[in-house]
Amino acid sequence: ADDQGSAPSVPKSVIEVTAFMPEARRDPHPPLKALRENCPVMRDEMAKAWFLTRYGDVRTTVNDRSFIRHPLNAEEGSISRQLVDEENPRRTSILFMDNPDHARVRPPLAKAFYARINKMKDQIEAIVDETIEAAPASGVFDLMEEIAVPIPVTVIARILGVDEERLADFRDWSEAVILGLNPVRTPEETERMMAGGAALEAYFAELMERRREAPADDLITDMVQLQASGDAPLSDDEVRINLQALLVGGNLTTTDLIGNGVWLFLTHPEQLAALKADPGLASQAVEEVLRFEAPVSATSRIAEADKPVAGCPVKEHQVVFCSLASANRDAETFEAPDTFDITQKRASHVAFGGGPHICIGAPLARMEARRVYQKLFERYPDMKLPEQDIAWRALPFFRGIETLLVEV
Ligand code: HEM
Repeated sequence: ADDQGSAPSVPKSVIEVTAFMPEARRDPHPPLKALRENCPVMRDEMAKAWFLTRYGDVRTTVNDRSFIRHPLNAEEGSISRQLVDEENPRRTSILFMDNPDHARVRPPLAKAFYARINKMKDQIEAIVDETIEAAPASGVFDLMEEIAVPIPVTVIARILGVDEERLADFRDWSEAVILGLNPVRTPEETERMMAGGAALEAYFAELMERRREAPADDLITDMVQLQASGDAPLSDDEVRINLQALLVGGNLTTTDLIGNGVWLFLTHPEQLAALKADPGLASQAVEEVLRFEAPVSATSRIAEADKPVAGCPVKEHQVVFCSLASANRDAETFEAPDTFDITQKRASHVAFGGGPHICIGAPLARMEARRVYQKLFERYPDMKLPEQDIAWRALPFFRGIETLLVEV
């Protein structure tokens, strides 16, 4: 039963619901609901992949260690195959790495990264505060440009140890590299991405060399020292590519967590009032934004051998997409799933995926978003949304706003 009049039609492809159907771009939740209710395990011939939309199936699949990730093992012609780097088909960050490499590379990286975040908590919060302080005092401005974009890139640059005078270049390169997240990019975008990637790679290689000679208080130093100690058997290439992955994986996603959250609060004034009345709700508010409008709308797994998935016969090499956006709105798991409610203690969402590949940056994203939601509405108690058409990103698998005008 659908309570919004005529039932939305069941989409034919994951590609439609993640970016390209204009209505789904505005609001992907009705077509995802139609899938959950009518076709929860869909074979998608356009993407050449399976598409799971129920919470239980998504949770089970992301946690299942028998699946693999490297796109070279994905079915020929599938959307995941387009993610293979033509020049270095085997080389990858932990994002697409399989065991035994993933189990060798991720733990030391995660340990060093978390130690850094804990050590730098005050500095990270200070970057958030300073960015908010530097935004215009009155009038109308784009929240994405002034706040949601600069915070994550400045924070990760500081954590890694990027030189202050290279920050502007670093931002340009990271923007270029993010184009690689779009499997259907234009040739110009591919060119810009390759150039940005090469510049970033050269700069990271140079920084690693410099930190070996003159250690500093940053994650690049932590990683080269760990390598030198012999405790973590990582190649230079592995260190560099995974430090780059922290940059690429963390920027747009955290930007969208900030943007989606501010949009949700400004369109749900009673929720904003609840947050202001009880700042202790900030952590729960971050979780509810992640559940309600997950910045990464899907993740994927590849079957290493034939196996049934949610009762369907998935074959070796076939790709299984897990809709995180849909799982997070499943009424089987969440009461009143289409209500944005920061005051309710809810079941845990899957916005960060799960299992061995669960997002490594989750604690950092949470730290930044929590501070933004606390400080932004303190500095701008009367912030409002002026009349505007909200343009959602056309990037598949990401859910975020391009421009968000706010009036202060
Ligand atoms: C993996 C979401 C922030 C770095 C992932 C995955 C998702 C995700 C869905 C795949 C998980 C899976 O397949 O099970 C998000 C969201 C973020 C965010 C929604 C912000 C709100 C960050 C940040 C960083 C980061 C801040 C780094 C600083 C990574 C990396 C992986 C990953 C390196 C690959 C982990 C692996 O495969 O072992 N993220 N992420 N992410 N994320 Fe994030």
